[in-house]
Amino acid sequence: QKQEVGLKDVFDYQIGTALSIQQIQEKDRKADSLVKRQFNVLTPENIMKSMFLQPERGKFDFAAGDQLIQYAEKNGMKVVGHTLVWHSQLPPYAQQIKDKEEFKAFMEDHIKEVASHYDGKVQGWDVINEALEEDGSLRKSIFLNLLGEDYITDAFKLAAKYTPSSELYYNDYNIEQPAKRAGAIRLIKKVQDAGLRIDGVGIQGHWMVGKVPFEEIEKSIIEYAALGLKVMITELDIEVLPRNFTGAEVSKRIEGGENLNPYKDGLPDSVQQQLASDYERLFQIFEKHKDKITRVTFWGVHDGQSWLNGWPVPGRTNYPLLFDRNYQPKPAYHKVMSLKNK
Ligand code: G3I
Repeated sequence: QKQEVGLKDVFDYQIGTALSIQQIQEKDRKADSLVKRQFNVLTPENIMKSMFLQPERGKFDFAAGDQLIQYAEKNGMKVVGHTLVWHSQLPPYAQQIKDKEEFKAFMEDHIKEVASHYDGKVQGWDVINEALEEDGSLRKSIFLNLLGEDYITDAFKLAAKYTPSSELYYNDYNIEQPAKRAGAIRLIKKVQDAGLRIDGVGIQGHWMVGKVPFEEIEKSIIEYAALGLKVMITELDIEVLPRNFTGAEVSKRIEGGENLNPYKDGLPDSVQQQLASDYERLFQIFEKHKDKITRVTFWGVHDGQSWLNGWPVPGRTNYPLLFDRNYQPKPAYHKVMSLKNK
């Protein structure tokens, strides 16, 4: 029987997806055939973050991560490690640390143990995730507050030492926007000027339907590639629901009568078409710059398990991906595929 062609078969760059631990375990393999047909590189959605890998200080738990590696190897897929240094999803004990030396030791031990454990098993690591504010300055995180800005170069130095065979990336959202992009370029140059290895940059790509910043995305691809880096889109989704508010504003909006879950019975056709054309235009840009782009990873397999159903309000019905809740390709999928069938 003829094997159906998937995204991974038609594009020159890798096509990836984030995968939850449930999706690689026997208990929820519903997406299994879709994953195998469409993608050739996996990013663990959560299990390689520090709260899961080092749940107690000095006690590492690699079981789930190892399971993902085995699943990938068995299916001829690569794995991207996500992430060594991130202020979010830190283990609770680490969030409590107030002492510089203690926190430094935590960061160093974490990178050493995790990077060496997975050396040769992952193709690359998001060494640092989301270290920038929107204005391009360094994020006022626990890392910056306790360690000062040198934590950036220290992290890349340690990662290079303990995982010589993995690529090393900087990964962030909104770094296609001018101010934040300038900050990312400063950060990357700082690593390069210190004589350290940095192989790629990940533009996360959490965008909104009808508001995808196409021009800035294209400029960013060009500018990051000019630094000698591989450019990756690492967490792609295009959401269709209002989200420009934070947790604190949610109840106000609900009281004000706003419907925060307007498409729970289905996506109107006009939005479906807009989503499809946004995805098409995005991939047109990727195709135009395919000499610079090495990977495009979606942040989830299908609409039903996207993190965007739960943020910033739980229990929403969102439609950000190429496959629907029944694992079926959406119009956006066909538009993207048809770029290669012309
Ligand atoms: O592990 C607990 C579990 O014990 C508990 O029962 C359950 C109840 O809610 O929560 C579980 O933790 C959840 C965790 O995912 C693991 O499933 C958290 O509530 C939930 O907030 C967390 O969300 C993840 C989020 O990162 C955390 O910031 C999303 O799944 C994940 O998609 C998202 O991914 C991030 C990237 O890593 C970095 N870039 C942004 C992207 C989207 O936010």
